[in-house]
This record gives sequence, C-alpha cells and structure tokens, in this order.
Amino acid sequence: MKVARTLISREQIAARVGVLGGQITIDLQGELDRSGQTDARIVMVPILTGALVLTADLIRHIPLKMNIRPVVVSSYPGTATSSQGANIHGAVPTDLGGAHVIIVDDILDSGRTLGLLKRVIAAQRPASLRIAVLLRKNKPGGRDEHVEVEYAGFDIEDEFVIGYGLDYDGYFRNLPDIGAMGE
Ligand code: IMP
Ligand code: MG
Repeated sequence: MKVARTLISREQIAARVGVLGGQITIDLQGELDRSGQTDARIVMVPILTGALVLTADLIRHIPLKMNIRPVVVSSYPGTATSSQGANIHGAVPTDLGGAHVIIVDDILDSGRTLGLLKRVIAAQRPASLRIAVLLRKNKPGGRDEHVEVEYAGFDIEDEFVIGYGLDYDGYFRNLPDIGAMGE
C-alpha cells in the first residue's frame, strides 16, 4: 500500500480548520450569551486517537475558556479499513450535565463511533451538544447509524484516506496532508 494521491493539502486543511474554529466560537459564545450563564462550562471531547491532530489545530482558533477531555473509542477488530462497530475504552467524563459539549472526531464514516458517544453524552443532559469532524464520508448506501454533525470540514467520496490523524493499521497519522490509499 502507498499513498496514491493527495486528496486535501495541508494548506486547504489549515484554511478550513480556521473557518470551523471561527464558526464554533461564534456558536458557543452565542449559547453563553443566550442562556445568560456566561460562566457555563464548555467542554471539548476529542475522540482519540484520530482527532489528535485536528484538535490541536482547532482549539487554537477557539479563544474561549474550555476544558479538553479526550475519550478513547476504538472499532471492534475488523479489517484495517472497515469498522465493525464502536467500543468505548476507559472513562467518559461524567460531569457533562449542564455543560456546552463539542465532540471532535477525524471522520464520520459508518456513524457508529459518533452515534455511540453522542448517546452516552446526551444521557448526561448537557446544555448543548455539537459534533465537529474534519471529514464526512459520502455513503451511497446510507450509514449504519445516522448522525448529524454540526461542523464538517470536507465531504469526501467513500474511499479510504490517511494522514492528519487518520491511520491505516495505526500508521500514517503523522502525514501532514490527507491522501487516498493506493493498491
Ligand atoms: P465510524 O465508521 O463512523 O464509526 O468511524 C470509525 C472510525 O474509523 C473513525 O473514527 C476513524 O478513526 C476510522 N475511519 C473511518 N474511515 C476511515 C478512513 O477512510 N481512514 C482512516 N480511518 C477511518
Ligand atoms: Mg481510527
């Protein structure tokens, strides 16, 4: 396997992440202003390991007081390129009631990972709950689980991608551009 072609360049990613951060800032500030609770907690919940790189860049475009509480979610053992379902490892924060929560992941694919985490967090009754992903994969046959995301960096075709946090079998997360895997 090798990277067949660059799909999204580091410059394109950087520009888009800046825009997403600006939108998220406006929306969260709006929540605080509307509720009158200007000291309400904002908690970002990145899904590791894929959201590592996006989160590092995104948070520097969100100049609000917030906590960052990563969770580890992994797919059940399947092939390196297809998820068989999601599995939460370790602790999910249990103090999200009343907080403004934003879940961050690298990609929305089958929807199982984000669907699961969204249900678990929603059960705590946060004041608001949003999802940001860098990539949203087009699934012609529909997703296993329908999940709405409020912020999506790029819509891509249904092909396997790596780089900027996204892995193939644990590797390539450190590539600065997003590429499609070749044969
Ligand atoms: P889900 O299928 O929406 O539950 O996504 C599960 C996880 O699979 C994502 O968080 C990614 O880490 C991973 N994933 C899905 N599609 C790709 C891809 O094209 N490249 C690398 N990882 C992917
Ligand atoms: Mg992954």
